[in-house]
Amino acid sequence: MNFNIFAISDLHLAISNKEKSMEVFEGWTDYTNKIKKNWLKKIKDNDICLIPGDISWAMKFEDSLIDLNWINNLPGRKVILRGNHDYWWPSYTKLSKSLPKSIFAISNNVINFENVSIGGSKLFDSIEYNFDDYINFVKNPLESYDNEEEIQKDLKENILLRELNRLTLSLEQLNKDAKYKIALTHYPPISADLKDSRASKILERFNIDKCIFGHLHSVNKNKKLFGEKNKIDYILASADYINFDPIKIY
Ligand SMILES: [Fe+2]
Ligand SMILES: [Fe+2]
Repeated sequence: MNFNIFAISDLHLAISNKEKSMEVFEGWTDYTNKIKKNWLKKIKDNDICLIPGDISWAMKFEDSLIDLNWINNLPGRKVILRGNHDYWWPSYTKLSKSLPKSIFAISNNVINFENVSIGGSKLFDSIEYNFDDYINFVKNPLESYDNEEEIQKDLKENILLRELNRLTLSLEQLNKDAKYKIALTHYPPISADLKDSRASKILERFNIDKCIFGHLHSVNKNKKLFGEKNKIDYILASADYINFDPIKIY
């Protein structure tokens, strides 16, 4: 492999939608410039950077292009996946037609670069685990949480089942001969202490080497979470967790 693979999730770019800027949160000061500065230091044009979700605060695809073009102007090939806040995410047809040229989207498909094969799906909250003990929860003063709390358990379960199905459909298309098999999920696919989950069993079935995800914010960095389980490396790459500095995966 003559390129490196990096990851950074949850950029939450608000260049297109400034009032949603994450700067209201402690630790997010000047985050857009921090990401850019760190990115330019290590990622080259031939490298790959994985961005599994919560990419832009735009509401419409046309607006998201402001943020996507910002990403496009950074070096490297980028692989993106939809997060729960990517309301702008359009149909795959529209996406594949209009994405800036260095950005590739995973949406019920896989992306192959030489001996690297990348698949995945967004997933969702699971009744199998939660991260309450690991998060210093901070309410976003700009956001209403009512809807989220009202989603009933069985509805959540149905969404997760659909996402697990999508994960399987994507991973079935992985290049079986690829030396490096990577899965992207937006929600963590396993508990912080690595107890088996339905998602982890799917990832094992497809011999995934590394699974990269985000979604969790304000994570207590003093507690150990995720790591290797049954030959899969589970890597949390939320931008604030990794100090807005893309981490090297390979
Ligand atoms: Fe996020
Ligand atoms: Fe998220």
